[in-house]
Amino acid sequence: MNIIVFGGSGGIGAAILKQIRLRYPSASVFATWNTQPPADELSGDGIQWSQVDVCSEQSIQTFSQSFDKVNWLINAVGMLHIDAKGDAAQMPEKSLKQLNPEFFMKNMQLNALPTLLIAKHFERALKHDESAQFTTVSAKVGSIEDNGLGGWHSYRCSKAALNMAIKNISIEWRRRLPKVCVTALHPGTTNTELSAPFQGNVPDGKLFTSQYTASCLVDLLSQFKASDTGKFVAYDGEELPW
Ligand SMILES: NC(=O)c1ccc[n+]([C@@H]2O[C@H](COP(=O)([O-])OP(=O)(O)OC[C@H]3O[C@@H](n4cnc5c(N)ncnc54)[C@H](OP(=O)(O)O)[C@@H]3O)[C@@H](O)[C@H]2O)c1
Repeated sequence: MNIIVFGGSGGIGAAILKQIRLRYPSASVFATWNTQPPADELSGDGIQWSQVDVCSEQSIQTFSQSFDKVNWLINAVGMLHIDAKGDAAQMPEKSLKQLNPEFFMKNMQLNALPTLLIAKHFERALKHDESAQFTTVSAKVGSIEDNGLGGWHSYRCSKAALNMAIKNISIEWRRRLPKVCVTALHPGTTNTELSAPFQGNVPDGKLFTSQYTASCLVDLLSQFKASDTGKFVAYDGEELPW
């Protein structure tokens, strides 16, 4: 079994890798990082690491060329804010006044487009006789139907675009790659660098450790069948509206 985790250096991605090592010790596991090389505990754990910038199609294409067959492909790359000092820092918008076209495009570039590019270049390796999972960590705030609060324009729009990409890929592959289950997953609010500035308002018991989230997501992936393709599913198994 060959498993790839894009964004294995992130909070959720690293925890998913640990779950996979635990539950599928004989799987061949591959992971990517961009700016943060893997933590020591993961660098010597039989995981084969590559540096991949998902904003570069060339980088994704070159990485894809090393694979003949992939069984699980998990994209855990994403952004919510830009954590930099001074003017370069950017938080999600509370109102339209704060909308910044560059920040909007950065969200689209990192949260939406990579899944389409990864699907384009990994289709060949996902097309085989065994069952396969193609999933991306999305976010419930990307659901148009569920949106009752507003705000976070760039992030919400980019996750809604990602959700459309997942639905579209599932439709295109239904006939061509019928063994592949294509899903979007909502992890719940998880204690990582991405959510760190926004954890103050999270109700008691609703801020998950990355270990808990990863355990839930790997449970889901181990249970999904080809007939689950095209679904948006939360960490607890609830099917979410697009
Ligand atoms: N945490 C939450 O509460 C929460 C809630 C809902 C949804 N999500 C979603 O879950 C996913 C993972 O979030 P997280 O909390 O684990 O975030 P995180 O800890 O900030 O990790 C982000 C990951 O994205 C990678 N990345 C960023 N830019 C990249 C690029 N250009 N090319 C390749 N990789 C790049 C980072 O790699 P490097 O560090 O190596 O640069 C890192 O592995 C995101 O899509 C997020 O929207 C999270």
